[in-house]
Amino acid sequence: MSTPTILIVGSANVDLVTRVPRCPRPGETLLGRSFSVVMGGKGANQAVAAARLGARTFFAGCVGNDAFGAMQREALAQEGIDLTYLKTHPSEPTGTAVIFVADEGQNSIVVTPAANYGILPEDIAALKPLFSHIDAVLLQLEIPLETVEAVLRLASEQKVLSILDAGPAQKIPSTIIAQADLISPNETEVEAITGVAVRSLDDARDAAEKLLEMGAQEVVLKLGSRGALYMGRDEWFHAPAFQIDPVDTVAAGDAFTAGLAIAWRSELYRRDAVRFANAAGAIAATRPGAQPSMPRRAEVDELLAKQ
Ligand code: RIB
Repeated sequence: MSTPTILIVGSANVDLVTRVPRCPRPGETLLGRSFSVVMGGKGANQAVAAARLGARTFFAGCVGNDAFGAMQREALAQEGIDLTYLKTHPSEPTGTAVIFVADEGQNSIVVTPAANYGILPEDIAALKPLFSHIDAVLLQLEIPLETVEAVLRLASEQKVLSILDAGPAQKIPSTIIAQADLISPNETEVEAITGVAVRSLDDARDAAEKLLEMGAQEVVLKLGSRGALYMGRDEWFHAPAFQIDPVDTVAAGDAFTAGLAIAWRSELYRRDAVRFANAAGAIAATRPGAQPSMPRRAEVDELLAKQ
């Protein structure tokens, strides 16, 4: 696989993670097992994964002028990620995610985007020179949708592959769905967009077909322990998951999407690219935390060779 150059435009959060026996019910107070502060945010997680998987990586986003913002900058810089296009918000704090991870692996997450909403459509023109030497741009939905649209427009003008991770779950305009070269939601995200609840592989196929009807060009559905489903205009297939013992699935989807971006740009067939992404996601699920759990290239190659 050749070494691609990837730009990620997205969020950087600090994750405040409490491990709990189970997720609390409304009005209930639970005793947590442990608490940790971990670097996260879908955009920053995907940037870390892309860098660890071997891509030359640029990250564009916005953090606050505060201790959390400084921690994110330091963590991303340590991974060798180019932060030229990472802004600092003059007044909003760095984004945060309050996360409960339950014993049985379930999690619930509340994101407060704050400074993440400071990366604006008018900032995107400054990224134009980058588009002459990047192979792909990777987006998620924790920044303003207008900014996502502006990046997708630029990518399409400049003929750069665009991949949209459709998280967190929300309705998105058809202009966004149609402009991304590849859209990759998980089960809850595809339900929010299409209205199709995914409880089986047949449902997953229906949801992916609905996305095509809505204008999507190619779809890769993340199905967690069921693996992933690819749907294009001419073919579809299911790629089963790797057998692992999950410890914490937070950000496993981010590792998957970054893996997809790396593999899509190479000479791999679609099936091999989705398998590579499945392996990246599986490794992330075996370790706690968001950025710390992102896989390295050698680990992915090892898992691919083993299973
Ligand atoms: O995808 C996982 C991420 O979602 C977490 O790191 C959290 O910050 C939220 O953005």
